[in-house]
Amino acid sequence: MRILGIESSCDETGVAIYDDAQGLVSHALHSQIAMHAEYGGVVPELASRDHIKRVIPLVNKVLNDSDTKMSDLCAIAYTRGPGLIGALMVGAMAARSLAYALDIPAVGVHHMEGHLLAPMLEDNPPSFPFVALLVSGGHTMLIKVMQPGLYELLGQSVDDAAGEAFDKTAKLLGLAYPGGPALEKMAQKGDPKAYHFPRPMLDRPNCDFSFAGLKTAVLNATMQTGNIDEHKYNIARCFSDAVVDTLKAKCTRALDMSGLNRLVVAGGVSANIAIRNALDEMMQKRGGEAFFARREFCTDNGAMIALAGMLRFKAGDVQDNLELDVVPRWPLTELKAL
Ligand code: KG4
Ligand code: ZN
Repeated sequence: MRILGIESSCDETGVAIYDDAQGLVSHALHSQIAMHAEYGGVVPELASRDHIKRVIPLVNKVLNDSDTKMSDLCAIAYTRGPGLIGALMVGAMAARSLAYALDIPAVGVHHMEGHLLAPMLEDNPPSFPFVALLVSGGHTMLIKVMQPGLYELLGQSVDDAAGEAFDKTAKLLGLAYPGGPALEKMAQKGDPKAYHFPRPMLDRPNCDFSFAGLKTAVLNATMQTGNIDEHKYNIARCFSDAVVDTLKAKCTRALDMSGLNRLVVAGGVSANIAIRNALDEMMQKRGGEAFFARREFCTDNGAMIALAGMLRFKAGDVQDNLELDVVPRWPLTELKAL
């Protein structure tokens, strides 16, 4: 059985085909980053229009690449939310139309469930239950995952998401949107002792995060330095170290609270090597294990939507009406357990 997955919640059009026996058989992605970079962030209307242009050619590409005929597909999965409403509508419309024409079910997938399950695309997938750290451009959450669909929120960011903190800090350092990956490279050349930025909320006995104070500390540091070019590597490094320490401390607390020793780290920020290494080392010291998706499947992609869609399809969680419903704001904890 093969399912087609379509991701279009933000600035990437991702399409993939997942086979329940063979795993991922093809995937393709078009990133709109270059188009949005000159505006310093995602322009929703441009995003929607670009998804319209890209989605069908990408569907044809993944079908051809994997020798899949339309008639081989058992269902069409798409990102139902959360995300930008116009962008979501494009993927939903394409998926629902294809499903209708082929007389097969459509499966609406939660974008963050896609991220959370993406490490299951790898050779050494995590077994359930586990604690998941979801760190993306819009969300920072710690979740106790009992089984697919059964999610208990342990903590989340009370202000900026981790990715947002990376992007805003990168902007202060003169880097183009989205600055996370560029900031990561810059941090590698910096002196970790040059600044001491705050590790917010470490004293609070919960699993919540706050990144706004860290952003302000970086802003103050940039204003105090005469020549930002001389200090930007050090600022990037000390910012990155503060994020790493905060994530480590909050993951430790979530694992202790839940009595679990498997940690899944997912979402765009989990592509960051310093974060991957630190959490991997921390889990080894605890005698546990950390799981990540390969770096290209940490950021938005169609493969994670096809995989999550297959799990939901097999559990019978499909949409059988023709309503075009997307959910721009959609708590992960409202999903059906599989
Ligand atoms: O998951 P994602 O692709 O989109 C959302 O669902 O939000 O995450 C995008 C975020 C951006 O903020 C981007 O700067 C950040 O992930 N990001 C990184 C890295 N790669 C992507 N942040 C730090 N280091 C990276 N290597
Ligand atoms: Zn995402």
